[in-house]
Amino acid sequence: MCLCVYLHRLHKRCYNTTVIAPPLEVVTVIRSSVFVSSLAFCWETKCRSVACNKVYMLESNNLVTFEGLPNSSAYHTFLLDEEKGRLVVGAKDHIFSFNLLNISKEFAQIPWPASSTRRDECKWAGKDLSRECSNFVKVLQPFNQTHVYVCGTGAFHPVCSYLDVGKKSEDSVFRLEPHVENGRGKSPYDPKLLTASMLIDGELYAGTSADFMGRDFAIFRTLGKHHPIRTEQHDSRWLNDPRFLGIHLISESDNPEDDKIYLFFRENAIDGEHTGKATHARVGQLCKNDLGGHRSLVNKWTTFLKARLICSVPGNNGIDTHFDELQDVFLMSTKDPKSPVVYAVFTTSSNIFKGSAVCMYSMTDIRRVFLGPYAHRDGPSYQWVPFQGRVPYPRPGTCPSKTFGGFDTTKDLPDEVVQFARSHPAMFNPVYPINNRPIIVKTDVDYQFTQIVVDKVEAEDGLYDVMFIGTDAGTILKVVSIPRGSWHDLEEVLLEEMTVFREPAAITAMELSTKQQQLYLGSDIGVSQMPLHRCEVYGKACAECCLARDPYCAWDGTECSRYFPMAKRRTRRQDIRNGDPLTQCSDLQHHDELSGQSTLQDKTVYGVENSSTFLECSPKSQRATTYWQYQSTTDDHKQEIQSEERFIHTEQGLLIRALNKKDSGIYLCQAVEHGFMQTVLKVNLEVIDTERLEDLLHRDEEAASAPAHEFSSSRETPNQRLWYRDFLSLVNHPTLNSVDEFCEQVWKRERKHKRQKSHLVQKVQLHQQQQQKTATSPRNHMHAQGLAAKWKHLQERQKGRNRRTHELERAPRSV
Ligand SMILES: *[C@@H]1O[C@H](CO)[C@@H](O)[C@H](O)[C@H]1NC(C)=O
Ligand SMILES: *[C@@H]1O[C@H](CO)[C@@H](O)[C@H](O)[C@H]1NC(C)=O
Ligand SMILES: *[C@@H]1O[C@H](CO)[C@@H](O)[C@H](O)[C@H]1NC(C)=O
Ligand SMILES: *[C@@H]1O[C@H](CO)[C@@H](O)[C@H](O)[C@H]1NC(C)=O
Repeated sequence: MCLCVYLHRLHKRCYNTTVIAPPLEVVTVIRSSVFVSSLAFCWETKCRSVACNKVYMLESNNLVTFEGLPNSSAYHTFLLDEEKGRLVVGAKDHIFSFNLLNISKEFAQIPWPASSTRRDECKWAGKDLSRECSNFVKVLQPFNQTHVYVCGTGAFHPVCSYLDVGKKSEDSVFRLEPHVENGRGKSPYDPKLLTASMLIDGELYAGTSADFMGRDFAIFRTLGKHHPIRTEQHDSRWLNDPRFLGIHLISESDNPEDDKIYLFFRENAIDGEHTGKATHARVGQLCKNDLGGHRSLVNKWTTFLKARLICSVPGNNGIDTHFDELQDVFLMSTKDPKSPVVYAVFTTSSNIFKGSAVCMYSMTDIRRVFLGPYAHRDGPSYQWVPFQGRVPYPRPGTCPSKTFGGFDTTKDLPDEVVQFARSHPAMFNPVYPINNRPIIVKTDVDYQFTQIVVDKVEAEDGLYDVMFIGTDAGTILKVVSIPRGSWHDLEEVLLEEMTVFREPAAITAMELSTKQQQLYLGSDIGVSQMPLHRCEVYGKACAECCLARDPYCAWDGTECSRYFPMAKRRTRRQDIRNGDPLTQCSDLQHHDELSGQSTLQDKTVYGVENSSTFLECSPKSQRATTYWQYQSTTDDHKQEIQSEERFIHTEQGLLIRALNKKDSGIYLCQAVEHGFMQTVLKVNLEVIDTERLEDLLHRDEEAASAPAHEFSSSRETPNQRLWYRDFLSLVNHPTLNSVDEFCEQVWKRERKHKRQKSHLVQKVQLHQQQQQKTATSPRNHMHAQGLAAKWKHLQERQKGRNRRTHELERAPRSV
């Protein structure tokens, strides 16, 4: 058995933990009067740091993870193939094919490393051999019925090839063609950079960087029968150090000649547009049938236009807070395929203010901006103004088609049009989000949003968009927007927050399969799969299920389960819009259900006189308010606990400072939501006086493995007993001021325990003590010589543990 101690300042979420499966235990300890740092302890057979709610998800059988290969990483490029039931993943030096049903059940892998010559060249060019000089797969695009086009960085020498995946899933073909093509303009050189790519009609559209230095960014069209085409080179008006995040084909009319490619990216603001260095989020457009100009802009896009995407909230000082660092985009289809809703995730570039937001844009608004005034300025020292002069015909940005102009190809465009297009790639007006503000804003949290996917869910009272938002801390937020009165007044409801990787690793790829009802997630360390809904976690009562307001779930009479709109079952109880259990569940007159008795947690907590204790209580519903009641052990009278100096109400529970013997008794945590009250937690607090504690700790020292323990009930396992002992010694032992000291003591005890077993270890201990006291004497040397290796090993292990504690302590503090 081993002990892990870590400071979880990085995991404020941990306060919310309510479900911890044994044998893991997590507790929040407030050591001083200030609610600043907390410690989590976990006991396990193997020592590793486990965050709290991570435990819940990882240990549950709902989450399936592929923990990565030791010689790979960067599982960032996903291709979902629902028809063949496969998820193809591009990573460092490998391509994987996972079964969508269960990614860990059977998967195939193809090693695709860079050749040793390329690796050497990359190293000689001054790149980091282990981190950069590998083949990082960046492009996976369906090419034809049987093949996928695949590109990688090839150790700073991009390469592409074809991946044979077979025609049907039964074929179970997964093979890389030996033929390799030049990947320039398709994959970046630098693994840190991204490519947004899309293959349509045998042509690859890619926003990427096309040189070793990572300076020549462009939007390319390669492959296929046409000459390759790109954006104007070295013109910051076109692209200014962009990072491409998404690319989509969206039809403009029923005529395919009007089809447009939309790119989503962020880039540096053009100088003069903004004081100082600023980032702008952008949407860019191109015509699919653009073949470049005839005299100028030869083999360059003639229909490229870009506009700024605004996502901001008004500040109290009158200055808007802008979320400009576009991170990801998801297109949600609507009834009209020409008008998908654009969901975009943003963070801020501000150093002072950390936050994330989700904004929604309509294609109508985006198109309107591209039809509005062009941004214009007369010279570098002039302001950007809307272009007021005569716009040449056909209007730049219009696709050559029978719908709008008489032009068959961009090569026939008048020179005047091409010249105008060349000098006016940006629109003057920005695109504002639907309702002019974000639908979600998250600030004052120690993580940022990275990815988004959205699912449309049909519930009893309408259609809802459920968002799954990935964060840089390796968590997923499941959020639904519910109209409060009208569609202009949305309320976001956080349904679940889940940790999906064993270590906090940013979510960098996300795919949602409606067919499988599963979500697939990529990070640096592996791939995870989780169900879109886990209705059973909302509890075992109709009211809880209803209050959860998860459009996927409904109360079916016996349990909270998946809601299917087709099934004509009158017993289904669901109320997403209002989440009102009184109308939905009151006729189910089981007292237990309504009062929540069936889910009441009942536990005993030990506190130490004059120290603090924290009674954690967060209801399953994220929106309930709580209050606390106290009941002494001797009578039935309950009284509400008012917030005062010693009793502090927090969102996560009740903090009691300077415990008094009289504080012993029963504490009831009551949750209230929509006038519906439920007791969620019943804690029996026992305050132990200091003398008794000293006595216990002392006795503990005497017999390290003594089974009998005064405050251990018969239900406790030996692990738990030990746990209380360590917990208590940390909270109240005056000589233990830091976690280090605490760990030191625990390890010392461990060593002591080992000593009883092993003579060898005993000698090592002796050696250690003597070493600490004096400089090493020759005699000790002789004694120790045979043990040297083992001693070193032990010391290394100890150092390793200390390092872990230190590392975590150094983690940025975000309270
Ligand atoms: C997925 O497959 C693994 C390995 O076969 C198995 O242990 C696990 O239980 C499966 N999980 C699910 C949710 O089917
Ligand atoms: C990585 O290791 C796996 C075995 O775990 C092996 O099959 C594969 O060939 C290795 N990949 C490379 C690029 O060496
Ligand atoms: C798909 O493309 C690959 C690579 O060009 C080719 O070898 C294969 O025959 C094609 N398959 C079909 C079904 O056209
Ligand atoms: C607890 O604190 C009170 C007030 O500070 C003090 O008088 C008392 O001696 C303390 N009790 C113990 C056991 O330390």
